[in-house]
Amino acid sequence: MRIIITKDYDELSKKAAEIIIGIVKNKPTAVLGLATGTTPLGLYGELKADRDKNGTDYSKVRAVNLDEYAGLGADNKNSYAHFMRENLFNGLNIDLKNTYIENGAAADGAAECKRYDALLESLPRDIQLLGIGSNGHIAFNEPGTPFGATTHTVELAASTVKDNSRLFDSIDDVPRKAYTMGLKSIMQSRSILVLATGANKAEAVKNLVNGKITEDVPASVLQLHPDCTLICDSAAAALL
Ligand code: F6R
Repeated sequence: MRIIITKDYDELSKKAAEIIIGIVKNKPTAVLGLATGTTPLGLYGELKADRDKNGTDYSKVRAVNLDEYAGLGADNKNSYAHFMRENLFNGLNIDLKNTYIENGAAADGAAECKRYDALLESLPRDIQLLGIGSNGHIAFNEPGTPFGATTHTVELAASTVKDNSRLFDSIDDVPRKAYTMGLKSIMQSRSILVLATGANKAEAVKNLVNGKITEDVPASVLQLHPDCTLICDSAAAALL
């Protein structure tokens, strides 16, 4: 695993943007695996600023997201589909038809997971961006998820509901279930870029880099990926 430690979040976001922009410039039809959460917001800001300043072209790029809350349709303001439009896609010249995420409003969850797996098969990712949960989750693969998992429905861990409640009006509004890309599908991406910021991620980063490879720490599977880069700020790197 390649590890880049930055002095702060701003530098982390700039370094991550350099990597994504490099891929898009090199391959205008790139498939980007993207993530939500607060960690990539600085990166997304950098990508939009670069688009404005340098005109980097996303017209042929396709984007595939990791996860979506079950029960929230794409127009719900707390859905990840909405988050992606607001925080990234609306600021790029990406065709929204080329952006993919699980359908949170699907009536049949199992069928939706199958549909998403078939889509992932047809769109091999050049890079998969990941944040990391304080409990070591990646996407919504909570501790105990089998490494062989493909897209599936999850019950969110209490710690994840609590962590994510900051983006909702109240903790009671946070859905308890979500659809998530599985660890097997994440590992199939040609390359992986993990971002971690802040002291509350230090333990998870330590386990990701130096811990035992175990399903108790889903992120530890990334030690087995041949092309994985971790960028973390000094607070998140404190226990390395
Ligand atoms: C987001 C996702 C989650 C987050 C993780 C960290 O699509 O799948 O695994 O990456 O919960 O969230 P933040 O960045 O908000 O700390």
